[in-house]
Amino acid sequence: MKRNILITGGAGFIGSHVVRLFVNKYPDYRIICLDLLTYAGNLENLADVEHRENYAFVKADIADLDAMRDVMKKYDIDGVINLAAESHVDRSITDPFSFARTNVMGTLALLQAAKEYWMQSPGGFDGKMFYHISTDEVYGSLPVDCPDGTVPPFSAHSSREGQVAYGSSYFTEQSAYSPHSPYSASKASSDHFVRAFHDTYGMPTVISNCSNNYGPYQFPEKLIPLFINNIRKGLPLPVYGKGLNIRDWLYVEDHARAIDLIFHNGSPSDTYNIGGFNEWKNIDLVRLLVKVTDRVLGNPEGYSEHLITFVTDRPGHDARYAIDSRKLQAGLGWEPSLQFEEGLERTVRWYLSHQEWLDRITSGEYVKYYETMYSNR
Ligand code: NAD
Ligand code: DAU
Repeated sequence: MKRNILITGGAGFIGSHVVRLFVNKYPDYRIICLDLLTYAGNLENLADVEHRENYAFVKADIADLDAMRDVMKKYDIDGVINLAAESHVDRSITDPFSFARTNVMGTLALLQAAKEYWMQSPGGFDGKMFYHISTDEVYGSLPVDCPDGTVPPFSAHSSREGQVAYGSSYFTEQSAYSPHSPYSASKASSDHFVRAFHDTYGMPTVISNCSNNYGPYQFPEKLIPLFINNIRKGLPLPVYGKGLNIRDWLYVEDHARAIDLIFHNGSPSDTYNIGGFNEWKNIDLVRLLVKVTDRVLGNPEGYSEHLITFVTDRPGHDARYAIDSRKLQAGLGWEPSLQFEEGLERTVRWYLSHQEWLDRITSGEYVKYYETMYSNR
């Protein structure tokens, strides 16, 4: 079946994995990757698919309503997967307005353009889908009631039997929204607009809320790539507070597979939580990361431990995220594929074998890549 799918934020971390998956898996689809190429967007992430016939790139701002109307019409879009966003919590603390602009107004402009185009098309909303990618951070913070970790109550349903958990509660699709950072507040707001477009106009929409992703092509401001980059350069590893905050980590390709499943088989108007049943205290994760990175670099064990530096905590730092993804597992047959140690080692090896990518992305060189590749098209 031929389809024209608009993937926004496709030059970013998760977006580039989703674009790659769709371009390779669905040769009959036309994949339109749309991205504003902010500091976080990098077309080099898509170098392996950019010459494919079923791939097109559009540089545009999702908050530009006229531009979104043009794209919907020009490419006769019948499916939207919205990953474009300002995504870094620390940046949202210093510049909340950019987050409201892109995450709230941008999502709204995209919704409006899709609604207008689809409502006036012959089949109306039939066969259309607006899929919004959200985050577990909209649910706020979970209590840490098992500080030393325990066996999760979901082990019978999870592929992570025996994995430690730091509390007895999890984020489910029914959890109330309780965002604490400007980032999560902007994502929560965009989720509400998506649901409002379903409830008010009957637009087919679906939302997924995922936990922390890790893997290749993540901008090195986020914990894992930042720390790998700093270890290779012998720079301090700034652990916020005492490093006791807990995150639930998922390999990015597992998220991309979940997005594929939900886009094709998710129920319209529904919500799916995506997570790895893989909780780690930051300090334990950092120690493991140091160990793996030193091993891959050929350093003696413990060589980079002295780089760990405890710094002032992030304001409003959520204590614990943990996702209950049983609905997605039972309903659509999704499973996380990698054990964390395996995924982490794969990730460390990727960054250390892509040191030029790391150097370019941190120096802004990748902007020149865009100019060379696309200025004459
Ligand atoms: P990212 O920052 O790596 O990528 C975001 C992309 O959006 C970049 O390519 C950027 O250029 C583009 N963009 C920003 N503003 C834009 C605009 N106004 N118009 C068009 N493009 C714009 O982010 P990511 O980590 O890949 O996250 C992608 C999505 O997934 C976000 O919506 C984020 O909230 C969500 N999410 C991320 C994680 C995670 O752990 N990274 C987890 C759950 C959900
Ligand atoms: O949970 C999903 C979210 O995960 C996504 O919605 C966000 O887009 C994504 O950025 C991520 O948010 P976090 O704030 O959890 O990710 P980050 O990598 O910034 O931080 C992970 C943890 O590590 C967090 O508890 C803060 C801590 N940290 C982070 C940095 C960058 C440090 O201790 N030191 C650091 O330098």
